[in-house]
Amino acid sequence: MSGRLSEKVAVITGGAAGQGRAAALLFAREGATVVVADLDEKGGQAVTDDIEAAGGSASFVKADVTDEGQVAALVETTVDTHGRLDVMYNNAGLVRMAPIADLSTEDWDFTMSFELTQVYFGCKYALRQMQRQGSGSIINTASTSGLVGIPGHGPHAASKAGVIGLTRSVAVDYGPHGIRCNAIAPGFVPFTAQTVELSTREFIDMMLALQPLKRPGTPDDVAAAALFLASDESSWITGHVLAVDGGQTAM
Ligand SMILES: NC(=O)c1ccc[n+]([C@@H]2O[C@H](COP(=O)([O-])OP(=O)(O)OC[C@H]3O[C@@H](n4cnc5c(N)ncnc54)[C@H](O)[C@@H]3O)[C@@H](O)[C@H]2O)c1
Repeated sequence: MSGRLSEKVAVITGGAAGQGRAAALLFAREGATVVVADLDEKGGQAVTDDIEAAGGSASFVKADVTDEGQVAALVETTVDTHGRLDVMYNNAGLVRMAPIADLSTEDWDFTMSFELTQVYFGCKYALRQMQRQGSGSIINTASTSGLVGIPGHGPHAASKAGVIGLTRSVAVDYGPHGIRCNAIAPGFVPFTAQTVELSTREFIDMMLALQPLKRPGTPDDVAAAALFLASDESSWITGHVLAVDGGQTAM
């Protein structure tokens, strides 16, 4: 397929659901060969089936991105199967949130592993391959929680601020190698797997009060930003944090 990502090979972690699924479908429509990586085999396979049914190119790799060996194998399998790696979208994430005084150390460690350390693994193995190629675009999913204080977000705020720091550091160190690294900071996107319990009318209204564009975000809103950062249209942009938040961080 021709399009804004034609000839590119893109790995999307957490591609079975939510924002990752929306990005997988969009990237494939724009001509990328998409590798969907997820813990959820059934959901991930369903996304690749949908892409292929629409005439696109995709494969599924079952991977737990908190396991360094599985991330190394994910990149290796991608390159063995598709020949290269142009876009690494470190989108997967899972959080246990509570105000800090009420949080167990186990929940803190879980959140750091599922939201920050795995992004380091994704950057590390993508960078090794992209250095060999002399090009590549890494996109890391942060959150508005990493930019501004939001009540009750505790460890999520810390892990996503860490993702932002890591993103800038990678951008500075690897720009001279032709590799870009940017972050997306989504605002509240209700009714994804990890926000479904939070998505009460009351919580949605509270979040809408925090942003000027008075509608909830959708996975497609975030996928559109990821497409821009994945494509050559953003070829002079690196180390940037793109808030996709209905203006929340402007208030
Ligand atoms: N939804 C929001 O409001 C929101 C806001 C800001 C940031 N984010 C971030 O956006 C990203 C995507 O969130 P979403 O709302 O689309 O979530 P989601 O729960 O709908 O999808 C997450 C996907 O990641 C997969 N996953 C989780 N842990 C994994 C692991 N260790 N290895 C492999 N796959 C794993 C899940 O199986 C799932 O398919 C996350 O990093 C999240 O923190 C979400």
